[in-house]
Amino acid sequence: MAPRLSWAATSQDLIAEPVTAQILPEGSPATDMWGYNGSTPGPELRLSQGEVLDVRFLNKINQGSAVHWHGVRSDNAMDGVPGLTQGLVQTGDQFTYRFRAPDAGTFWYHSHNRSWEQVAKGLYGPLIVEESNPPDVDHDFTVLIDDWSLSETGVLAGDFDNMHDQAHSGRLGNFARAIINTETPVSTGDRLRLRLINVATDRAFPIEITGIKGKVVALDGMPLAAPQDVSELVLAPAQRVDIIADITSSQHVQFVFPTRDEPYVMGEITTVGTNKDRVASPIPPLPANSMAQPDLDNAISLTLTMEGGAMSSQRSSLSDIWGFNGQSGQNDRPFHSFERGQTARISLVNDTRFPHGIHLHGHHFFELQADEELGAFRDTTLINAGESRDILCVFDNPGKWLLHCHMLGHQATGMKTWMEVL
Ligand code: C2O
Ligand code: CU
Repeated sequence: MAPRLSWAATSQDLIAEPVTAQILPEGSPATDMWGYNGSTPGPELRLSQGEVLDVRFLNKINQGSAVHWHGVRSDNAMDGVPGLTQGLVQTGDQFTYRFRAPDAGTFWYHSHNRSWEQVAKGLYGPLIVEESNPPDVDHDFTVLIDDWSLSETGVLAGDFDNMHDQAHSGRLGNFARAIINTETPVSTGDRLRLRLINVATDRAFPIEITGIKGKVVALDGMPLAAPQDVSELVLAPAQRVDIIADITSSQHVQFVFPTRDEPYVMGEITTVGTNKDRVASPIPPLPANSMAQPDLDNAISLTLTMEGGAMSSQRSSLSDIWGFNGQSGQNDRPFHSFERGQTARISLVNDTRFPHGIHLHGHHFFELQADEELGAFRDTTLINAGESRDILCVFDNPGKWLLHCHMLGHQATGMKTWMEVL
């Protein structure tokens, strides 16, 4: 497991630099990538809920960069968005990120400059905030799901700004893998906690996990009040799913990408022997993180319509490929300014031919169900082509917060805006 950060050992350096990674199977050529501290994915950062993360970021790649702590409801000045919350960290420069982690859960960090290129090249890693009373499991594994555009000789395709890709589904890799942070063998009967993170730039991953029986206990880091059955998992880019499950197979737990032809195994954990000590017990919910109750009756109503892209129905007046409400990109003025603590009901309308995974910085929001009940409390929501979803958000974190499509090729070409909380 990764070294634990704590008050006592607060200072950790995070160095963005060129690295070599074995992405294709062993025996195939390695790939030149970017990473943190010598590897992609970067180190798993772990701390306890309420602790302070103190990271000195050093930039040793030949582009400006910055680090965003995805899903963390932290201080605006630490959010890592160049041009909105900080300046670009130029090659050779450094920036210290220091913030308290208010919520326990599964988060991640990634570059937020030219993210469609820098994340594709490997600048990301997991950020795990532990509960003070963690659930009783035998293993706690982080599983990063990614895809890459690679040649047979392991060379990463370089056309990050390919307009055809950006106008469609973004940069979709030809090679996918689940990166599991363990070599430890597991046993039949063991109870696992799996923390799935979709770190791909653009692909929404459907995923099946074989050899286990269990429940989804959290989405985007936030515990579900009642754990749900694991069925038809789909993770939009940046989304996370926490699962607690018991191993039922005597061979392996597999992470499977269902395809039309043959299911594609993206990764597996081998099982050896049987755990006879674990007594079967129901899977309890994780302890809740604090959340402000939304005031639905007094909520202000906003509509955010996703527009543009290939095969778009409307004659677009957008200045770039994609946009919201007729506007492309991050403008001087926010999409909306909220009084601190105000509840907003936002209709996210997908008027395009592609799905979009919409992410709001610095906050989580409720997905509103068809019956007007509050659904999951997330930071990224997937809206399929032609569909819409209402979300309910209490804007209680002051600052300037980006809202964008996490299909990063769409973000690159206009599908972003920002909100201000006064
Ligand atoms: Cu995962 Cu704007 O970020
Ligand atoms: Cu999109």
